[in-house]
Amino acid sequence: MSEKFDLIVIGGGPGGYVCAIRAAQLGLKTACVESRGTLGGTCLNVGCIPSKSLLNLSESYHKAKTNFFDQGIEVSNVKLNIDKMMKNKNKSIQILTKGVEFLFKKNKVTYLKGKGVLFSPTSVVVYDQGKKNSYNTKYIVLATGSAPTSLPGVEINEKNIISSTAALSLSSVPKSLVIIGGGYIGLEMGSVWKRLGSEVTVIENLSYITPGMDREVSNEFQKILTKQGINFQLNSKVESILDTGSKVTIEYQDNEKKIRNKIVADKALIAVGRKPYTEGLNLSKVGVQKDEKGRIKVNKKFQTKVLNIYAIGDVIDGPMLAHKAEEEGIAVAELLAGQSGHVNYDVIPGVIYTSPEVAYVGKTEEQLKKDGIKYKVGKFPFLANSRAKVNNETEGFVKILADSSSDRVLGVHIIGPHSGDMIAEMALAMEFGASAEDIARTCHAHPTHTEAIKEAALAVDKRPIHF
Ligand code: NAI
Repeated sequence: MSEKFDLIVIGGGPGGYVCAIRAAQLGLKTACVESRGTLGGTCLNVGCIPSKSLLNLSESYHKAKTNFFDQGIEVSNVKLNIDKMMKNKNKSIQILTKGVEFLFKKNKVTYLKGKGVLFSPTSVVVYDQGKKNSYNTKYIVLATGSAPTSLPGVEINEKNIISSTAALSLSSVPKSLVIIGGGYIGLEMGSVWKRLGSEVTVIENLSYITPGMDREVSNEFQKILTKQGINFQLNSKVESILDTGSKVTIEYQDNEKKIRNKIVADKALIAVGRKPYTEGLNLSKVGVQKDEKGRIKVNKKFQTKVLNIYAIGDVIDGPMLAHKAEEEGIAVAELLAGQSGHVNYDVIPGVIYTSPEVAYVGKTEEQLKKDGIKYKVGKFPFLANSRAKVNNETEGFVKILADSSSDRVLGVHIIGPHSGDMIAEMALAMEFGASAEDIARTCHAHPTHTEAIKEAALAVDKRPIHF
């Protein structure tokens, strides 16, 4: 007889493994199926975590090479050992993926290695190296994540035409790297390889980078990256990429002038978005429906058309962010245990881990205008923040958008040092429905970068002290 669970989660990424742990904490007999061989999904294995390792290490290298001298630190012969750098990154990933396995053991989650396939609404078959096992379950959570998309007619071969996966493991620094897409992946990976010595060109279809971000921040971001030496080819749509073995030829159309251009590089990184990954799950057989973008359709309680099958994370609608998937995983586990789990989609922060970092939460000015909401703006530059000044990191600003009549904070956008950490304070403020005045009256330690937040909040009422 096959083993019976209360819950089988398919996919061991941040959405799936967090859901499994929370469900087990709440007393559900839980299993998690994962085919990759290690837990942690794209995020831990080939996404957020390895990219942050390389962003951190490449920044240290770049600083040692270029900034230290002016700051009175004279080091000679700074050399890059890319092999060691990659090993360091791989070691961190190994420790963290093993850490998730440990958490499964600690919480008594059964880890089923292999490819999970829906057999019926209450049974899952797991295929592993020619072996097949069936499991029965009351509930199923689909958390199979996403995979990189390519351009029509362009095959990602992970040699010269690469996705973020290969871009995180190159064995040498390409002399030239063309990145298609000026989004999260393009700009983080572009920063890594620029710092390590590549000539980087980003080709972006739109007339601005990072679509969806507050435009003022996006424009400032592009200016800063340009100053760092990244080339931008905006308003340009890549139409074809040819891998000639030693080089790649990228053809793109100038959307304004309607002329075709060509650029030759060592490698082309395709970073034009990701698509939900549902291959081989057998969704249609059991009656789970997808929308026109291939996302699994769910209701407000994350239930698919088959009510005991749920879906979370990148396979459903919403931003493809690890922390959004985690929140959904927890909400579903709590709903299954009879609690009232929910996700506040108005307060999901986003961070781009470049230097400086860019972080935001809530509405952009563009969204507020579109929604006809009247708002006030408070801005404060890091140039006037003493901690940023002494650390020689004065680029960027904090921008707070507050409702004109109630003063409630509607959105916060930060480009500047440590903004990825600072945005947590703003997410918390928004969860508690804070006004700009609440933030302005909260004592912030001196000297810290967070004082720029307090000053921006004061600036909403036109009374900043240091600017
Ligand atoms: P993205 O959606 O952020 O950006 C893709 C860009 O490609 C867009 O700006 C789009 O206009 C452009 N584009 C599309 N077709 C094009 C063409 N033919 N020629 C030129 N440009 C074209 O997608 P990205 O960067 O691939 O990231 C995928 C997902 O991964 C995102 O949803 C993001 O949320 C997530 N991610 C998050 C990170 C973080 O939280 N720090 C880091 C990396 C990825």
